[in-house]
Amino acid sequence: MANLLITGGAGYIGSHTCLALLQMGHSLVVIDDFSNGSVDAIRAVARLAGLQQRSRSASGQARHHQWHWQQGGQHLTLLEGDIRLAADLQLAFEDQAIDAVLHFAGLKAVAESVAKPLDYWNVNVAGSRQVLEVMADNHCRTFVFSSSATVYGMAERVPIAETSPVQPINPYGQTKAAVEQMLRDLAASSGPAEPGWRIACLRYFNPVGAHESGAIGEDPDGVPSNLLPLICQVASGQRPALQVYGSDWATPDGTGVRDYIHVMDLAEGHGAAVETLLAEPPQLLTLNLGSGRGHSVLQMVQAFEHTNGTSVPYELCSRRAGDSAVSVADPSVARSRLGWQTSRDLATICRDAWRWHQQNPSGYAQ
Ligand SMILES: NC(=O)c1ccc[n+]([C@@H]2O[C@H](COP(=O)([O-])OP(=O)(O)OC[C@H]3O[C@@H](n4cnc5c(N)ncnc54)[C@H](O)[C@@H]3O)[C@@H](O)[C@H]2O)c1
Repeated sequence: MANLLITGGAGYIGSHTCLALLQMGHSLVVIDDFSNGSVDAIRAVARLAGLQQRSRSASGQARHHQWHWQQGGQHLTLLEGDIRLAADLQLAFEDQAIDAVLHFAGLKAVAESVAKPLDYWNVNVAGSRQVLEVMADNHCRTFVFSSSATVYGMAERVPIAETSPVQPINPYGQTKAAVEQMLRDLAASSGPAEPGWRIACLRYFNPVGAHESGAIGEDPDGVPSNLLPLICQVASGQRPALQVYGSDWATPDGTGVRDYIHVMDLAEGHGAAVETLLAEPPQLLTLNLGSGRGHSVLQMVQAFEHTNGTSVPYELCSRRAGDSAVSVADPSVARSRLGWQTSRDLATICRDAWRWHQQNPSGYAQ
């Protein structure tokens, strides 16, 4: 079993992946600055994985709070820290050898990236570079990167294969493409004297849903920018209606089509990726993680209403700048390289998202 460092593990996808990795038997160190994550997410993960809290401690600086859980030989440590600071990252390597890093920490809102590009280049690109440098210093060279289908921009062919051109159309996508380029350069840098890097760039399509327990899920700050949290807020009466941006796209019902992937399928994809990297010789894998199926906004609304017996009023609005008609993955390379594919359907996605929302209408801030 491996010892894994998870950056941004207290966030949405990171917390679900922590649970999947613990259930596979791995031990974890999580680092998060809680700018968009919660200690409660990791508490819930520890509970779901059957770990007991061992201790909580704070170092001289308040930034360095730590929490520890354990069961038998398996452990989970949560460190409060910023990935842009080498000293914070170094704490994770202090007490144990780290076999691999799964790097989720980052900023992820397209519109915000247009308004605050320097923040995105700082956290997403400079932060990733810092993580890689501390890894190299500690002789850890296995890295799983949270990339995004955003790197494809307006893809000309659907389903989108990994060979499609990388042509992002917003600063968020540019930062993901820049880190991917840094990783390709790093993979090519190993020579006879340098051990090679094992790297996976995972291009997620649209992560949705929550763990089936309803104990962890997506907890957006302010107005959600993703569809499912918005649908949940409308269904529960927190918002009057869902705004559907664009009803004149070249799709069967005119609304945008996306490839929605259940977050636990995505989490299990990370488990398959890191275990594949650790078992094989150094390489760089670039993989789409999606279901390969597209659903329109109106199909999502109908599926949600049907599954949960609720009503989701909506209004059709004009298109948003930068949106595209259809984004659907060709997931065949991930299937053949990782032996992984999605197994949860749209009804499961809708049921799990609604359960999480009903149990936690204000997210973790109860
Ligand atoms: N959610 C999506 O739709 C989506 C799609 C494609 C790719 N991604 C990528 O996946 C990753 C995880 O996304 P998510 O939806 O879980 O986001 P999230 O915001 O829920 O999680 C990110 C976590 O990183 C932490 N973080 C941010 N800056 C940090 C810093 N400087 N130091 C330490 N921790 C920091 C946040 O507190 C948060 O817990 C991101 O890199 C994102 O770009 C997300």
